[in-house]
Amino acid sequence: MKNLKQLLLKYNRPGPRYTSYPPANFFHEKFTNSDLISHLATSNQNGSENISIYIHIPFCSQRCHFCGCNTTLFESNEVIDRYISCIINEIKNFTIHLDTKKRKVTQVHWGGGTPNSISRKFISRVMDEIHNTFIINENAEIAIECNPAYLANDDIVFLRKSGFNRISVGIQDFNPKVLDCVNRLHTKLPHKELITLIRESGFTGVNYDFIYGLPHQTVESFNETIKQAIELSPDRLVTFSYAHVPWVMGEQKKLEEKGLPSPEEKLSMFLSSMDLLIKGGYEQIGLDHYAKPTDDLAKALREKILHRNFQGYCTKETTGQVYGFGCSSITQLWDAFSQNEKNLHKYIKRIENDGFAVERGYALSFNERVCKEVINETMCNGVVDFEAIVQQFSITSSELKSIIGYKEEKLQEFIDDNLLKINNNKIEITREGMMIVRNIAMAFDPQLNTEGDKYSKTI
Ligand SMILES: C[S@@+](CC[C@H](N)C(=O)[O-])C[C@H]1O[C@@H](n2cnc3c(N)ncnc32)[C@H](O)[C@@H]1O
Ligand code: SF4
Repeated sequence: MKNLKQLLLKYNRPGPRYTSYPPANFFHEKFTNSDLISHLATSNQNGSENISIYIHIPFCSQRCHFCGCNTTLFESNEVIDRYISCIINEIKNFTIHLDTKKRKVTQVHWGGGTPNSISRKFISRVMDEIHNTFIINENAEIAIECNPAYLANDDIVFLRKSGFNRISVGIQDFNPKVLDCVNRLHTKLPHKELITLIRESGFTGVNYDFIYGLPHQTVESFNETIKQAIELSPDRLVTFSYAHVPWVMGEQKKLEEKGLPSPEEKLSMFLSSMDLLIKGGYEQIGLDHYAKPTDDLAKALREKILHRNFQGYCTKETTGQVYGFGCSSITQLWDAFSQNEKNLHKYIKRIENDGFAVERGYALSFNERVCKEVINETMCNGVVDFEAIVQQFSITSSELKSIIGYKEEKLQEFIDDNLLKINNNKIEITREGMMIVRNIAMAFDPQLNTEGDKYSKTI
């Protein structure tokens, strides 16, 4: 454990998260509504035929002081009603350009904010629109992020009846002292009762979110939370490192007054929880995601078909090109990214006036698509098979190496630390290597510039 800790500290340098390639700080405002429309049309011919849908619901009734998400405190029902009408109009305007007769939806994800905090009638309006517009694949994953503060028995039954089959529950910490300190509402139902109800209602998957690095948390207290989680036995679990960016999220300053754990303590929380989860039967996915061996994500990692988008890890079978609706949502196509206005009221105005609300985006060149593939394979599956990529893009091996700026000496430090091996034109990252995978991905990024850009540290 000590060596691993030293290794992680050694590689704890600023770098992109690579939830997209190129990273979101490359998105620019020259990419407009008309660019989105032309890329929507070509997305029918290029890239995955599968359709993934992302719905962003920014509303929360109370703001947790740690929160880094795009949220807005509760607006009147009139504003929520207008917002829902905008999402429905946006779906209609997108689908004019999409081949919804042939292409099927394999993934729907509702994120926020807190999607389960709005009235059921609003959730039903959007779900009805999705069901009336698209062909939903029978194995589609239909997921919603929920705050347990708004989950009672009948809410769970309603969500299941509306078509959701996976719930992601934001736990953060089971310790009520920690929740009070960060201004977070408590769960409505006891957690044991909640997960039993979710399972009995027919949901096929439950995910729990945790954060470490908050005030009042210690290695021992976070271990207690993780032990409780293992007993409750969700299929998937994430331990997010608390991202403290008070210059962007002013309210986070309040947590400084309460006393944040040191970086050393945070790393110990991460390592200790990882140890407990692995001993508790979970498989580690990337740095901070865990899944039971029988879960689709763990199976996909073994089969090397794991994939990742802005909504998190997914399998290549369930995900497709992502069409995002609502303020701040990101449409993620084969050759472009397009992000909507982040501000709720600007988004509403633009949809009501123009039908689309693009704030910024990025169109990828051929070379950037090659890099995107190499970086995705690195980040998700820990293997880069140069031969497979050469064939996929009909290029030569030396063209591939020149596109990604490949130099073996850039990998030497990782090889010396037993974090990766090079075998027969294949790069294979070890289990320890996957914990600093962002650093390894940086070696395949010819546009990397950690000087000017403000990236968080890699651990
Ligand atoms: C949109 S929220 C989840 C749904 C719901 N709003 C809730 O809080 O339960 C997404 C997740 O992002 C994580 N998160 C939010 N702010 C964060 C931060 N500053 N650092 C790390 N993770 C954060 C939390 O774990 C949270 O569950
Ligand atoms: S963590 Fe969830 S409930 Fe808390 S403010 Fe953020 S989005 Fe809202």
